[in-house]
Amino acid sequence: MSRHVYRASIFHLLGDPAAGTDPLAGWFDDGALVVEDGHVAACGAWDAVEHRDSDRVVHYPGALIVPGFVDAHVHYPQIDMIASPGGQLLDWLENYTYPAEMRYADPSVAREAAGFFLDQLLAHGTTTALVFATVHKHSADALFEAAFARNMRLAAGKVLMDRNVPPALSDTAESGYADSAALIAKWHNKGRLTYAVTPRFSASSTEEQLALTRRLLDEHPDILLQTHLSENEAEIAHVLETFPGAPDYLATYEKFGLVTERSLFAHGIHLSPSEWQRLGAAKSAVAFCPTSNLFLGSGLFDLRAAEAANVRVGLGSDIGAGTSLSQLQSMNEAYKVGQMRRQMHDAFTLFHLATLGGARALRMDAKIGNFETGKEADFIVLDPAATPVLARRYARATTPADKLFALAILGDDRAVQATYVMGACAYSRPLAISLDFPGARPLS
Ligand code: GUN
Ligand code: ZN
Repeated sequence: MSRHVYRASIFHLLGDPAAGTDPLAGWFDDGALVVEDGHVAACGAWDAVEHRDSDRVVHYPGALIVPGFVDAHVHYPQIDMIASPGGQLLDWLENYTYPAEMRYADPSVAREAAGFFLDQLLAHGTTTALVFATVHKHSADALFEAAFARNMRLAAGKVLMDRNVPPALSDTAESGYADSAALIAKWHNKGRLTYAVTPRFSASSTEEQLALTRRLLDEHPDILLQTHLSENEAEIAHVLETFPGAPDYLATYEKFGLVTERSLFAHGIHLSPSEWQRLGAAKSAVAFCPTSNLFLGSGLFDLRAAEAANVRVGLGSDIGAGTSLSQLQSMNEAYKVGQMRRQMHDAFTLFHLATLGGARALRMDAKIGNFETGKEADFIVLDPAATPVLARRYARATTPADKLFALAILGDDRAVQATYVMGACAYSRPLAISLDFPGARPLS
């Protein structure tokens, strides 16, 4: 049996602070995270956990250990066109996104990008994500293969789209169904992988394709569904034109039985009270993607409406409309979206969105999201001295809430010192060493 004890400050959430959980119950100034065979064996104050002579102690003085971040919505092929300017959603899709995704017709492009993307997720402190591939079956194969090799808990799917998209990116209702079924057979529940059936958005699928999407959900009772919902006003108009007579955007999914407790909808910015209520009644989840919503000018997510409707919410980078893979940066922008809506999102809420809240949105909270005994030991080591300004600000913070807030607003991938996947170190920040002394030479 391998048993390691990680010593640093520790923060994890035992429940949703918005639902009354005391966030300080999971804060330890001098904490110990005990990991046995890749799972959490104990977490608490250093003085309070059991220590054994055989323990291997890894000490990160001054650092803060938190659960690995969950990215509830991201498109891995769009890492190639992140930061493409010009236009709102529909123009951006036509001019940048679809051309970028066409390159993935080449399996070698997909393979190279999948490895790069996952290594970057880990370097940004994200250990779990719900990911769109492209329409090409092999693009999902490439991502699953790379995630399996890294032992990551990851959900993904091949995109389904058979109308209103460029012919080069179009599947058919039958081929999309068959490819998805083959990918499920190959990857779903293999290692830590989950399949998510992935219609791009209702306007890009025929009614036949949406009906076959429901059939996949019926045939595989523990796969997920991911798609987009109510992101942008022109997109909503396009959806309502595509489905004449539909009372609203959500109804275009409801018609095919796709609004379920296994469904996660990205964005949900312009939802009516009725749509929020129906999402809550169906126990569906939503991804809040602040860097994307600001970059595309889509709108300001209403987290209070989601809470009131009992809708689970995760935080999404939504690369490539989003502008950073860092969930610390997503927290930063989520806070500002809240400000614009006159909603105050405190640091505990922000960290909940990126950890336990995300795990709940992906229905993975029995396995990940915090350090309850028995959970998989996916965690990250944050360095509050990563930059001079963060170090200065953090040093003056006296409460856990203020320390976490400083990290959320000022932190990014530079603050990720190490990332552990099931207790194994999957990323460690390169040491910054000075070569400025006589005889110095780079290590080879
Ligand atoms: N709606 C349909 N496809 C997309 C996409 O790739 N990105 C975003 N942000 N919205 C979408
Ligand atoms: Zn998206």
